[in-house]
Amino acid sequence: MTPIPERQGTSTVRGDVKPSIFLVGFMGAGKTSVGKALSRRLGWAFVDLDDRIEEQAGRSIEEIFRALGETAFREMEHAALRDLCRELRQSARVVALGGGAFVQPANLALIEGLAARTVFLDAPADELLRRCLEQPKTRPLCRDASQFRQLYEARLPGYRNAARRIKTENKDIESVAREVACSLGIE
Ligand code: S3P
Repeated sequence: MTPIPERQGTSTVRGDVKPSIFLVGFMGAGKTSVGKALSRRLGWAFVDLDDRIEEQAGRSIEEIFRALGETAFREMEHAALRDLCRELRQSARVVALGGGAFVQPANLALIEGLAARTVFLDAPADELLRRCLEQPKTRPLCRDASQFRQLYEARLPGYRNAARRIKTENKDIESVAREVACSLGIE
């Protein structure tokens, strides 16, 4: 049988779906902006899991936390990730997860089941906090500096389950996207 050559800009090779790329890390890590830049570089579609949750719930993450609490949010997050993982079996994408998603064991199991490529975008907690405070987005779990640092420390072991770690301090979005692509050997 003649092999079908790889098509540029698509996410399938010879009928096999390439592994999707999951960007993980704490709030302010740049998962969404780097994810968009990376998807442009690769010509792959981009998905932000938090956007999916908001679309499905018909309200913002902030409203979900306020009205239903974090436990309900985590259930919605897990359901949205489960549905997304099903789609990723057909077509690979660049995925940005919310800051808490990857450290939930049930979510990690879903991602590991996909054999996806996982990249932890990291920066010192104070840098992450500075970025969060600069952005207009309201983050329910960004309450005060000491709680923010404690949560970051508590989650670090979970983020280290990612296959790769890229330091983002003092780097612009395009440079980080390029570094992610190079580290995965796809650029
Ligand atoms: C969360 C991070 C947020 C969002 C939600 C919970 C977390 O996403 O999913 O507010 O638990 O760290 P970002 O990391 O994009 O801010």
